[in-house]
Amino acid sequence: MFSSLLSVVTSALLATTAVAWPNVPSAPFVQNATVFSPPANWPNKGGSYARSVLLNQNCEKGNPTILATAAYQPPDGQYLIIHKSTDYGATWSELSKAYFNGNASLSGGIILQPFLYELAQPFGKYQPGTILLSANYIPGDFSSTNIQLYASTDKGASWEYVSTVAAGGPPNTDNGAPCVWEPFLLAYSNQLNVYYSDQRDPAYGQKLAHQSSGDLVSWGDVINDVAYANYTQRPGMITVAQIGNGKWMCSYEVGLWTDPVTGSNDSAPYATHYKIADSPLDFGSVGDSILKTPEGISSAGPYTVWTPAGGPSGTIVVSDSSYDQFFLNTQNGAPGAWKNVSSQGHGVGYTRSLSVLPGNGGKTVQVLNGGMYGSNMTLFSAGDFIVPGPAGHGPGASGFPACNHNSGGYGHGWGWGSPWW
Ligand SMILES: *[C@@H]1O[C@H](CO)[C@@H](O)[C@H](O)[C@H]1NC(C)=O
Ligand SMILES: *[C@@H]1O[C@H](CO)[C@@H](O)[C@H](O)[C@H]1NC(C)=O
Ligand SMILES: *[C@@H]1O[C@H](CO)[C@@H](O)[C@H](O)[C@H]1NC(C)=O
Ligand SMILES: *[C@@H]1O[C@H](CO)[C@@H](O)[C@H](O)[C@H]1NC(C)=O
Ligand SMILES: *[C@@H]1O[C@H](CO)[C@@H](O)[C@H](O)[C@H]1NC(C)=O
Ligand SMILES: *[C@@H]1O[C@H](CO)[C@@H](O)[C@H](O)[C@H]1NC(C)=O
Repeated sequence: MFSSLLSVVTSALLATTAVAWPNVPSAPFVQNATVFSPPANWPNKGGSYARSVLLNQNCEKGNPTILATAAYQPPDGQYLIIHKSTDYGATWSELSKAYFNGNASLSGGIILQPFLYELAQPFGKYQPGTILLSANYIPGDFSSTNIQLYASTDKGASWEYVSTVAAGGPPNTDNGAPCVWEPFLLAYSNQLNVYYSDQRDPAYGQKLAHQSSGDLVSWGDVINDVAYANYTQRPGMITVAQIGNGKWMCSYEVGLWTDPVTGSNDSAPYATHYKIADSPLDFGSVGDSILKTPEGISSAGPYTVWTPAGGPSGTIVVSDSSYDQFFLNTQNGAPGAWKNVSSQGHGVGYTRSLSVLPGNGGKTVQVLNGGMYGSNMTLFSAGDFIVPGPAGHGPGASGFPACNHNSGGYGHGWGWGSPWW
């Protein structure tokens, strides 16, 4: 096991020997910065579901740019506000409005569940450094749910419609209502993969699945990632990260779940579950585990990242929608090894997002909190969490990934925050 890992390390290093890791300034610690406060004249000032992306695919030097957005309901159109920080999240300004106008038959309505991603390799006409924005567009007549994809080729200043990955019926979380929700994007194996929650398959109340594309325009078959034999149960809100042993972990909530120990869901109504597989395209073939600490079960809207800090296998960091605390695992996701630690003060939020910042040996994880779903006033905030234990090594810890776009090789999973071998 270890020797085969070593040979992988060696060949990966050889493949990129010409390229040094560019150093970037370490992120200064941010305790609690306001990304956005909705204007006083907005009738609905509630938001949630914050997401961000750190731009690092065009050989950038100096302080990186972070873009962030969250689901709000602006009164004057169907757009997501794209916020920008060039000081690691300490201060933010509005960069652009991404209008969801890619389907003329849809108008009015709301945009839910955004996700931001930067391409590290070309797909179709889109070059590395293109920023992708996906979300669920629900038109004003609430007749459909639409996982749409938009792109920016100018670092988030302007946006264009790319394609609709999946469309379904009216928004309705009842089993049997054929709608779609909650996209998550990940490039792997020369495909851009969009994971989402899918209620359209009559065999499952809701399942998690992905569709893949090589050009971002035509999308392949729906491939199941989490689909329970028990129709009733509702896996949802998937996120995916590569972890310290090179495997891939996805985490998600499970609605209408019953704890086999207590016979109820009282302690964890949407218990966080997770799977670990050799490839992020193979979650469908492995079983899952419950994210349980000595104090309880994580619940609802989990978001998972991995950082090389914290020990030989690095640390898996999971946030959820029910607790201020984070759940850490330094044993490659071993079910008995989850710890419940203070978030260091970021507040509870509906699906807070996490990202590992450059420098500090990978110890700085930025938390974005868009607020609690259903609240009538939300402050969208950013702050850092310092991962306990030793500093880590590699690009996720010390700087940007190698600037290797023209080398001809696009290693899958060779991206920000990925294991360095
Ligand atoms: C526009 O959206 C509707 C509703 O989801 C869908 O049925 C239709 O196919 C879409 N049209 C195009 C051109 O994508
Ligand atoms: C929890 O269990 C109860 C009783 O079975 C069920 O009615 C409820 O919908 C469940 N809640 C969630 C979020 O799974
Ligand atoms: C399916 O899941 C529901 C909700 O957790 C549970 O009440 C029911 O007993 C399960 N059915 C079977 C056949 O296990
Ligand atoms: C985490 O710790 C907090 C504070 O002790 C506790 O209230 C909460 O129930 C714990 N949650 C889990 C999932 O361990
Ligand atoms: C962050 O700062 C804002 C504005 O001062 C405050 O309302 C909010 O409660 C703070 N969040 C936390 C988690 O302390
Ligand atoms: C917003 O929520 C707060 C606290 O829940 C409540 O006091 C207030 O009346 C609400 N305002 C509106 C306009 O609904």
